[in-house]
Amino acid sequence: MDKIADQSVTVLGLGQMGSALARTLIDAGYPVTVWNRTSGRERDLVAAGAEAAASVTDAASASPVVVVCLLNHASVQETLGPVSEVLRSRIVINPTTTTPNQARDLSEWAGRHGIDYLDAAIMAVPAMIGSRGAQIFYSGSRQAYDANLTMLDHWATSEFRGNDAGLASLLDLAMLSGMYHLFAGFFHGAAMVGSASISATEFAARQAPFLAAMTDGLMDFAKIIDGGDYTVPGQQSLDFSDHSDIIDASDEQGVDSSSLVAIQQLLARQIAAGHGSEGYPRIYQSLRTRRA
Ligand SMILES: NC(=O)c1ccc[n+]([C@@H]2O[C@H](COP(=O)([O-])OP(=O)(O)OC[C@H]3O[C@@H](n4cnc5c(N)ncnc54)[C@H](OP(=O)(O)O)[C@@H]3O)[C@@H](O)[C@H]2O)c1
Repeated sequence: MDKIADQSVTVLGLGQMGSALARTLIDAGYPVTVWNRTSGRERDLVAAGAEAAASVTDAASASPVVVVCLLNHASVQETLGPVSEVLRSRIVINPTTTTPNQARDLSEWAGRHGIDYLDAAIMAVPAMIGSRGAQIFYSGSRQAYDANLTMLDHWATSEFRGNDAGLASLLDLAMLSGMYHLFAGFFHGAAMVGSASISATEFAARQAPFLAAMTDGLMDFAKIIDGGDYTVPGQQSLDFSDHSDIIDASDEQGVDSSSLVAIQQLLARQIAAGHGSEGYPRIYQSLRTRRA
């Protein structure tokens, strides 16, 4: 594809994800400058048309938009800190996974140096970058988002979540929390049946459709939570949902039950507060108040 004039982009960090982001932009015709701490990872991208920068300073100077896709917050601070003056008046887009407060800190740091900061949270694996099935949340500078939306849309379906730079990563990490709890629940069930020589494969074949059917109920839970009335009739009550039998079965089979015990404690707090006859989603209220 022909080069798109005056829309050059720099990508700092050529790991799995940074390389996928850079590659998509090269394929879309953007002039792309790349840099990576360890040399060698730029080779395929240069062969595809990218310019390799010899230093972070050269890379940051090369484009009005600088994408920084590194391991974590500390590596972003370490890399961008020394080039803050070079980045002045440029846009920094940061798809590195950070906590919401780390994103806010970077946004505040960027503001002090005259840098337009857009945080990004990628809900995809590298192979999905460049497809509409991939989703990226953005937060921070609306101006930077609007000015670069055509470019951002090459990576994924884009969604701006708000001016608070921490919102994209908050949503990202909340989504991952749900996913990892689900995975951990599957691993626990697999360990339970594994103690009776039932394979994880056989268990997965039963568990996957069951979980898919159960997740259909999330929207009903959500409506109860948002409505704030946990007494709506027709719900499974907290008393009925007591997890003691599952915990006891797990213990009997010699399987660690601590993940389930943690959920039982959330449930027990609501029962102890007199809400046993109310719906299961009331566990949400235990989670909203962190224990001292
Ligand atoms: N991969 C995914 O599926 C995925 C999905 C969503 C979000 N993300 C996020 O995207 C970011 C990058 O992920 P990735 O998969 O590309 O990871 P990766 O393949 O492990 O690459 C990590 C990159 O960070 C660089 N790096 C690490 N420490 C550094 C430092 N102190 N200074 C400068 N550069 C440093 C590495 O450079 P060297 O080559 O020199 O080591 C490499 O370019 C992460 O925050 C990750 O959470 C990834």
